[in-house]
Amino acid sequence: LRMTAYEIILKKRDGKELSYEEIQFMVNGLISGTIPEYQFSAFLMAIYFRGMNFKETAALTQVMINSGNTINLSQIPGPKVDKHSTGGVGDKVSLVLAPLVASLEVCVPMISGRALGHTGGTLDKLESIPGFRTILDEEEFIKILKNIGIAIIGQSSKLVPADKKIYALRDVTATVDSIPLIAASIMSKKLAEGIDGLVLDIKVGKGAFMKTLKDAKKLGQTMCAIGKLAKKKVCALLTNMYQPLGNTVGNALEVIEAIQTLKGQGPKDLLEITLNLGAEMLKISRNLSYNASRKLLINTLLSGKALEKFRMFVKLQGGDDRVIENYNILPQPKYKLPVVSPKTGYIAEIDAFKIGLLSVELGCGRKTISDTIDHSAGFIFQKKIGEKVTAGEEIALVCGNDLDKVLYVREQVINAYKISNKKVSPPKLLLGKIT
Ligand code: URA
Repeated sequence: LRMTAYEIILKKRDGKELSYEEIQFMVNGLISGTIPEYQFSAFLMAIYFRGMNFKETAALTQVMINSGNTINLSQIPGPKVDKHSTGGVGDKVSLVLAPLVASLEVCVPMISGRALGHTGGTLDKLESIPGFRTILDEEEFIKILKNIGIAIIGQSSKLVPADKKIYALRDVTATVDSIPLIAASIMSKKLAEGIDGLVLDIKVGKGAFMKTLKDAKKLGQTMCAIGKLAKKKVCALLTNMYQPLGNTVGNALEVIEAIQTLKGQGPKDLLEITLNLGAEMLKISRNLSYNASRKLLINTLLSGKALEKFRMFVKLQGGDDRVIENYNILPQPKYKLPVVSPKTGYIAEIDAFKIGLLSVELGCGRKTISDTIDHSAGFIFQKKIGEKVTAGEEIALVCGNDLDKVLYVREQVINAYKISNKKVSPPKLLLGKIT
């Protein structure tokens, strides 16, 4: 019997279980072009509403891995461990964590993604550095890993091409926040990299794709189970994405904040999440205790070794490494307009979801597949949850090159804030762990 995309979409739309062959037919059809994007988008929406069971999710992951090559890193001695986030607002952790852990003789072969829905993407951030190349062939990827123990690349026509295509479709069709689609997207990339171990950062809260701890746990458990099937050491931290992470959102702005953090001058929340994920990576790769890892990570950061690693990484991937001393070589926003507090009190909320949506509006992400990004655009937050503000005080800057957009977003952004008369404590960062 011949399969058709129509019948498979119908089957999933009606909540039935798909076979490996049916999932393979859809994914391979998208890649070869025999199934058009509009049909695949409808398929994604059916999955969004009907879900997939574990068997289907594992099958989707495998089919996506098989759409391209898998990298063999057995020629590189020592542990190979990566980290991946389920997506956040202001989440520039990878830019700090990967060079930090790679400074401790752990190889970090990272396949990342672009901005997705209201969240930012590591590849878009890195591409704000002039010359930086996120597409390397396998040979160059391995060569850089051998040399410095870190490389960060994107999906390509050779490496998880299925995720490259599906990711871009999900970005603009409101089909991101689905447990099977996130799990297969992340795990297909990670299982194609040649790693031994993986630490997942499952974001929870308004600015995350998983709004509740219950859903976040389910996503974490699904991904850990897929990793276990592939005989990898996997663990997951559940971390808070209630307000943006750090003090910036936006591609070039986040690169600056990551470099500041590598210089030992980063915001506390970003550092804390980085250290905790780093400790998990060292536990997997070096069997170190939490306290020993934490000390080692802090000392490495303060020694400047992680910053030096970042410099080498930028240079070897074609980027202008003068960026470390001179932030002016990054795209600069023409406009930087202040947002002021309407009243005196304490910042009680900066809704990361609203900020994320407004960041797309500013040009940090895409509304359609063919959109180009304004790498200079974004937000600088001068006050975060718990801080005292007075009426008329500047609390944030809205940056970008398109004045209409900057003006619109400046007007809207105050809706993401709540200012309370009572003292508010900053939200707890670590919410749980799955091993
Ligand atoms: N990161 C990914 O790579 N894929 C997702 O679906 C979400 C976050």
